[in-house]
Amino acid sequence: MRIILYIALFITLAIALVSGNAHQPKILRPDTPERKHKTCYKKSSIEYADRIKSPLPRDYLDLDALPQSYDWRNVSGVNYLTMNRNQHIPQYCGGCWSFASTSAISDRINIVRGGPIFPQINASPQHLINCDGGGTCDGGDPRAAYEFMAEKGIVDETCQPYQAENGLACTPACKTCDPNGSCHTITNYTNIFVDEVGKIAPFAKDIMAEVYARGPVACSIDATSQLEAYTGGIFKEFVAAPIPNHIVSIVGWGVENDVSYWIVRNSWGSYFGESGFFRIVQGNFYDNLGIELDCVWATPKVSSIPSL
Ligand SMILES: *[C@@H]1O[C@H](CO)[C@@H](O)[C@H](O)[C@H]1NC(C)=O
Ligand SMILES: *[C@@H]1O[C@H](CO)[C@@H](O)[C@H](O)[C@H]1NC(C)=O
Ligand SMILES: *[C@@H]1O[C@H](CO)[C@@H](O)[C@H](O)[C@H]1NC(C)=O
Repeated sequence: MRIILYIALFITLAIALVSGNAHQPKILRPDTPERKHKTCYKKSSIEYADRIKSPLPRDYLDLDALPQSYDWRNVSGVNYLTMNRNQHIPQYCGGCWSFASTSAISDRINIVRGGPIFPQINASPQHLINCDGGGTCDGGDPRAAYEFMAEKGIVDETCQPYQAENGLACTPACKTCDPNGSCHTITNYTNIFVDEVGKIAPFAKDIMAEVYARGPVACSIDATSQLEAYTGGIFKEFVAAPIPNHIVSIVGWGVENDVSYWIVRNSWGSYFGESGFFRIVQGNFYDNLGIELDCVWATPKVSSIPSL
């Protein structure tokens, strides 16, 4: 069954490319969507093996019985998500890969803890950037970020606040500074490890199962100028061959006027879109900037999450 779906997807993609190249673009084809966005997705040259120990939600859940809508911002009135962020302050930084991967793992820590327990743990994107743990402000890869978190762990924001800057020291991972101007190392700090990691694409139902069972996932997307200009609603733009240049996190889905959509967390501030989030059509990669084609999930290692 899965093989047939893969073949069908391949054929549709091939047809889309061939028809797009060979014939007239027509009204439907704004062929080269404008992209102001400098890429912050630099896919790692290393093909990391999945780290899978437990059964996958897409295999043990009944995919046809998933709810019509699910939103980690409001599961029976509870918001499990961590804070909104902006990767581009105090200066422009192509750190999207570190934001999507850390917000998804931080959200999943809330989920594992059974609620948004205060104080929340916000895994530090700057820690990844300092250690080249998946990339830098010149771009990176969320899969590689999860590899770093599996091998080295990641500190929380209070150890290593975001500075949108390359070239800061990787060690000490956690530090603080004194009134006399010098800084010192902290040795007793929270270091969160990732346990399992895998890819989940390109089927909407598989992604839904993963998000539903375990929480947000990080996905690449083609951030076109239209997406940059998004202010609300269900986004749709025809791009036959999306070029992934940005990483975001899927935190849920829904349906409005018979249109199914993903709920997506961005890292361009709360003033972007719908309070920092956007919705985009589900299930059709020509219309949703390829958001379902390249997603990665990770689980936090429960023993590394501090209890209160
Ligand atoms: C959360 O969802 C419920 C329906 O499931 C709705 O009644 C409620 O208003 C929502 N809460 C917020 C804060 O949006
Ligand atoms: C600054 O203060 C800290 C903490 O009181 C102290 O350990 C450190 O030696 C001082 N550094 C300098 C350069 O005076
Ligand atoms: C380290 O921190 C934990 C809790 O944050 C505390 O229980 C423990 O006593 C601390 N250990 C040391 C050596 O300070």
